[in-house]
Amino acid sequence: MPWLLSLLLISYNVIKTTIQSQKGPLPPYKNHTISLEDRALLDAIVWPKPPAPTSLNQTSDPVHSLFAILPSKGGRERRVGDQLEALVQMQDFQGRPKHYGGDFLVARLHSPKLGAGVAGTVVDHLNGSYSALFPLLWEGPAQVTITMVHSSEAVAVLQRLREQRSDRFFFRSLFRSGKLSENTVCNMCLPHNRPQEPLCNYTDLHTGEPWYCMKPKRLSCDTRINHFKGGYKKDLVTNKEALLFQRSGAEPCFILHL
Ligand SMILES: *[C@@H]1O[C@H](CO)[C@@H](O)[C@H](O)[C@H]1NC(C)=O
Ligand SMILES: *[C@@H]1O[C@H](CO)[C@@H](O)[C@H](O)[C@H]1NC(C)=O
Ligand SMILES: *[C@@H]1O[C@H](CO)[C@@H](O)[C@H](O)[C@H]1NC(C)=O
Ligand SMILES: *[C@@H]1O[C@H](CO)[C@@H](O)[C@H](O)[C@H]1NC(C)=O
Repeated sequence: MPWLLSLLLISYNVIKTTIQSQKGPLPPYKNHTISLEDRALLDAIVWPKPPAPTSLNQTSDPVHSLFAILPSKGGRERRVGDQLEALVQMQDFQGRPKHYGGDFLVARLHSPKLGAGVAGTVVDHLNGSYSALFPLLWEGPAQVTITMVHSSEAVAVLQRLREQRSDRFFFRSLFRSGKLSENTVCNMCLPHNRPQEPLCNYTDLHTGEPWYCMKPKRLSCDTRINHFKGGYKKDLVTNKEALLFQRSGAEPCFILHL
């Protein structure tokens, strides 16, 4: 994402200092510090969430949204090396302006005739409006395309899946001893719906990286011989949430010829 990239570059030269938060001996993986640099990187990928659940007709709709190229400074003709700024006002399916940010927009300035193109930097003003900034790198015609990849409401669903459903991809391991072999499901966290079942805990004592497998019925945890991908879970979003992904897509939503 272009605007993430620029944030990451800005945060790169932060002086490295550490934040000590806990006292007393800790297991090795808990005794590590977050540098300001790490913190800045984490802050840079924070994504604003919609303030409250909304009905589908209150979610961002590229078709109803507005888009304008701002006039050049002093009204003079644009030259190579200038910056072009476009303003986007996102609106919902009922044509009402959005008042919060978080829509995932990508902006592109291109010339199909010349085969030239450049990505724009999208700035989220967090009030439903966005600026897209482009460097003007060539002479002649250019066309601006701004695409809504996902509405802020759809991003919130993706965020929820990332944070709460780390089991959406699952793995398996084979356990073998003599003639017996079994394979079981493995993941970073194991089924909330089967809390009583015994687990094998392979959490890395050094890094703290969690890893569990369901314990095989007849074999012990130390007979694990491999690790493979088991598959992924479908139907993790509700039917209503699924509609958020049908409506957005890779289709360009605004095209303007300069
Ligand atoms: C963390 O580890 C360092 C050595 O690696 C040690 O000197 C320090 O006391 C430990 N801190 C805590 C809070 O356990
Ligand atoms: C918008 O959605 C809500 C809830 O689904 C519904 O009650 C309302 O009638 C809808 N409004 C329009 C104009 O479609
Ligand atoms: C949204 O924020 C931008 C930047 O702060 C500001 O220029 C613009 O007027 C605001 N728009 C609305 C509708 O408040
Ligand atoms: C697994 O082992 C780690 C490291 O010893 C421990 O912190 C964690 O609580 C264990 N998990 C369970 C579910 O017992």
